[in-house]
Amino acid sequence: MKVLGIETSCDETGVAIFDTKKNTIVSEQLYSQAAKHALYGGVVPELASRDHLKKLIPLIHLTIKESGYNLDEIDGIAYTAGPGLRGPLLIGASTAKAIAMSLDKPSVGIHHMEAHLLINLLENPAPSFPFLTLLISGGHCLLINSKSLGSYQIIGQTLDDAVGEAFDKVAKILELGYPGGPKIEALARQGNPFAFSFPRPMTNKSNLDFSFSGLKTAVYYEYKKMNKITNSQKADIAASFQSAVADTLLLKTRKALIETGLNELVIGGGVASNKFIRERLISGLKETNIFFPPIERCTDNGAMIAYAGSFYLKETEQNMRLDIKPRWPLSELNHG
Ligand code: KG4
Ligand code: ZN
Repeated sequence: MKVLGIETSCDETGVAIFDTKKNTIVSEQLYSQAAKHALYGGVVPELASRDHLKKLIPLIHLTIKESGYNLDEIDGIAYTAGPGLRGPLLIGASTAKAIAMSLDKPSVGIHHMEAHLLINLLENPAPSFPFLTLLISGGHCLLINSKSLGSYQIIGQTLDDAVGEAFDKVAKILELGYPGGPKIEALARQGNPFAFSFPRPMTNKSNLDFSFSGLKTAVYYEYKKMNKITNSQKADIAASFQSAVADTLLLKTRKALIETGLNELVIGGGVASNKFIRERLISGLKETNIFFPPIERCTDNGAMIAYAGSFYLKETEQNMRLDIKPRWPLSELNHG
């Protein structure tokens, strides 16, 4: 089966083709709108919709051309149905459905966070269900008991900011620009992670939930205290903040591994591309088999949607409902 995948949930237009016979992504295209949104300090939904509209069809053409297949050889289309921004989701879904209808092929709506999780199964070696999953992205921070395909029990989540959101907000405080994650990681390399002792929120609580808004506020007050901040002080703040996030993720994940008795850990989402956090988790969880996607597959991409589609696309009848779900808890999957 050859699956065309379309990702448009936020500010990346991603398109890819996954071939189940070859068990590989045969071609993929990714366009990031980040530079456009950077002017406004964060994602502007209307701008995102317009840009997806402009870029999606040309990227689909390019992806098909580079795969060497003809459009009518595609067996089905997978698109991100949620969670995400309503306008961008609608553009991906309506384009996918229109192509499916014109080819008389099935389409399926994919849960964006499940795709972040499942892309790990394409790696060699691959994890096998059940496993613990830590999803860390711009909109989520989730600890999940992943029991089997489509069956996910959320055992911990953020009570306020998502972890990527905290990176983006701290980057804004430090005037580093958007998206904040990669900028903080780069600056932190020149800084001292022990320079400031920022809180490791909720780590003294017995539950598995997170809270990052207090950490962001602690950074804000530290920054405000300084007048004429130097670049090296900024780097120290970035490094100390990143270290506080890494420790928090490590402590909560360790607790979740003990509570569930699971010994495989699957990590995904944009923040999983952070090398400092990867290393902190690897060195702190030596007894656990940890799986990360390749760096370029951590942030949003079409490959993860095409791959997730290969699990859910059935030769079922076409469904022309535009079934996007901007809010869609991972525990409520229903691929019917
Ligand atoms: O998964 P993703 O591409 O989109 C969502 O599903 O949200 O994640 C984007 C988030 C942004 O908040 C971005 O700042 C963060 O991931 N991010 C990073 C890094 N690269 C992206 N955070 C920390 N370090 C990074 N290297
Ligand atoms: Zn994502």
